[in-house]
Amino acid sequence: MIEVERLEKSYGFARALKGISFAVAKGEVIGFLGPNGAGKSTTMKILTGYLLPSGGRASVAGHDVVQESLAVRRCIGYLPESTPLYAEMRVDEYLRFVADIRGVASAKAPSAIARAVELCGLSRVTGKNIVELSKGYKQRVGLAQAIVHEPPVLILDEPTSGLDPNQIVEVRKLIERLGQEHTVVLSTHYLQEVEKSCTRVIVVHQGQIVADGTHQQLCAQRPAKGLRVVVRGAEPAVLATLRAALPGQAIDVAERAADRTTFRIASGAEAPAEQQVARAVVNGGFDLVELVREHATLEDVFRALTLPAGQEVAHA
Ligand SMILES: Nc1ncnc2c1ncn2[C@@H]1O[C@H](COP(=O)(O)OP(=O)(O)O)[C@@H](O)[C@H]1O
Ligand SMILES: [Mg+2]
Repeated sequence: MIEVERLEKSYGFARALKGISFAVAKGEVIGFLGPNGAGKSTTMKILTGYLLPSGGRASVAGHDVVQESLAVRRCIGYLPESTPLYAEMRVDEYLRFVADIRGVASAKAPSAIARAVELCGLSRVTGKNIVELSKGYKQRVGLAQAIVHEPPVLILDEPTSGLDPNQIVEVRKLIERLGQEHTVVLSTHYLQEVEKSCTRVIVVHQGQIVADGTHQQLCAQRPAKGLRVVVRGAEPAVLATLRAALPGQAIDVAERAADRTTFRIASGAEAPAEQQVARAVVNGGFDLVELVREHATLEDVFRALTLPAGQEVAHA
């Protein structure tokens, strides 16, 4: 559905994209991640035909983004970083206007608008002026304008940024719903959103792709973090017991609370099994409150790939 080959973009002397390549198949929902300034919006603007690349090529549904930008725009629904909504228009008027400029036939427009209104949960506010709406509803209008011409591909640039936690959940649900019918590329800083809604993750950093794979694949590439053990009991006694029962293991105190201590046992070739640790705690006469094997998260992956070397540990 989307093909990007060695795409480059320079703004003057600044190279925003340094030759990125990726492909997106029909039905995929791509989480497009990267720190601010990585080149996410630039890539999206090129894909949607709003910006010309300086090198390389990209196509959407088989149409070249430069040669056939009109055909590309018909295939794409685009929610830009800051949605240029017409504040003084009513929601229904605005969607009608958008359907018109996107070339939806006037006979088809009412049903296309009704579909967008229904999908985006806007039926209560169609008669309101956009200026009156909350930020969450404005964002839904932004999504409705992106889908009104029924494009197969959606490009959503930080669709949940600036929303409150309730609105984030609402918009995320909406995107999950849209993801069932569309191919989606969405940029975001909310990594949980990606774990929940995306089938694949692409990480850009300084104009280059530094990771591309499923959430599981990317996390599996990071070292496991070992066991986290929470024990009720006096810390020195528990620590001594654990060290005696698990010789040669790197055991550290991670957190102290009034009646409990959290220990971290590093994972390595000879790392102990959960049962071994549980037995050591219980045989020592202490209460085992919690025992979890911790795995790398998408946040760990993101930090490892995009923080300058050496800062990763300091910030963890
Ligand atoms: N219109 C522009 N003029 C000059 N530099 C720009 C322009 N737009 C973006 N940039 C620069 O290009 C780089 C990538 O920006 P952008 O694609 O917006 O990143 P992201 O969306 O990942 O935050 C940044 O260094 C940014 O400052
Ligand atoms: Mg951006």
